[in-house]
Amino acid sequence: LYPFIELRNGELYIEELPALEIAEKFSTPAYVYSANAFRWWFNEFNSAFSQVEHTTCFAVKANSNVWVLKLLAELGAGADTVSAGEIHRALTAGISPKKIVFAGVGKRPDEIEFALERDILMINVESESELETVNRVGEKLGKKAPIALRVNPEVDPKTHPYISTGLHEAKFGVDYERAVELYKKAKEMKWVNPVGIHFHIGSQITDTSAFGEAAEKVAELVKELHSLGIEVELFDAGGGLGVNYNPQEPPVPSEELAKQLIPAVKELGCKLILEPGRRISANAGVLLTKLLYIKRRPNKTFYIVDAGMNDLARPALYGAYHHIVPVVNKGRKTETVDVVGPICETGDILAKGRELPECSEGDILAVLSAGAYGFTMASNYNSRPRPPEILVEGSSTRVIRQRETISDLLAREF
Ligand code: LLP
Repeated sequence: LYPFIELRNGELYIEELPALEIAEKFSTPAYVYSANAFRWWFNEFNSAFSQVEHTTCFAVKANSNVWVLKLLAELGAGADTVSAGEIHRALTAGISPKKIVFAGVGKRPDEIEFALERDILMINVESESELETVNRVGEKLGKKAPIALRVNPEVDPKTHPYISTGLHEAKFGVDYERAVELYKKAKEMKWVNPVGIHFHIGSQITDTSAFGEAAEKVAELVKELHSLGIEVELFDAGGGLGVNYNPQEPPVPSEELAKQLIPAVKELGCKLILEPGRRISANAGVLLTKLLYIKRRPNKTFYIVDAGMNDLARPALYGAYHHIVPVVNKGRKTETVDVVGPICETGDILAKGRELPECSEGDILAVLSAGAYGFTMASNYNSRPRPPEILVEGSSTRVIRQRETISDLLAREF
């Protein structure tokens, strides 16, 4: 299916371990990751950019587990963060502050302070007011804040509207037309230092030409800035490269993204920063869930499983497709079913009208591509403890986050 997540004679393996064995050992629902898959996807991405100076800053929001971050840090990854919490996670994982960028449309002054105190690489500023706030915080600390402005290159990434970010109507970034003026302002400010430029046009983008278009537009801006003596050195092209949620389709090679971005940075003599999240983590993990009940209605069959929208929000939230396989395919004929969770909401659907090999109650199913925006978006809705995260390497397993307990749920209420 994917590197290190494979079917062998109809049985799902995570590296050298049958998924069934993992489910029996740790119960369900459970997030299960492959250490070597993270490495594989990181290297596939990172090596595509080897001919230019670059840092691959993993977007921590996709998978924030500190052990996952540690594993990526060992391969040289930096971190793209959006909160003090994420910066704290990245530093705890051993990522150098000089490889951490901080974005986000609504940073609080205390978060900006947190970031500046830790000497991170740069703050990606998203508005004029935020620029002023950063300047004030810099003054308070007596530290010049390295910043980039996040600009909207006005490119349509042709992805889901909820994850398109580079257009006028989105709340993110500053308008392309105003960028030069704001850079001039930043240059004159005493406590900010404009060292970079940032753009991020959206997520799950598979038509890489949008990246090239955006890079070209932003490069024009950088040339203008350079001509004004504003020495922008870091060209942060954001994240957003898509993955194949359907294992039958091949993934877009990262080389294709590299081809779109490299000419611009070469021409500008800038250092490239990249912020992939989904690409490196989505297909390194699965969510294992147990089929609790089969409900047959005249025109519909429901597979009711023990993982819900609180565990994996993407299908309910975006109508996202996640491929589902029984961890043991008993070679039965297929049937068309809705795979639904236990949450008291009609929208609690993991898959709608999906053709699956006929299963029995008690079977274990794997929801694939769950390594990105899976656990990080999980909640305690319906007072359900969040699942554990388990890291597989070869034939060994490690619980990198314990399953929450019912008493955890009330911990903050007493
Ligand atoms: N950089 C910035 C500034 C971002 O806003 C994001 C994602 C990334 C990098 C990483 O994007 P990626 O490489 O993972 O596509 N929860 C949604 C995705 C939201 C993405 C938000 N920003 C989902 O599950 O599809």
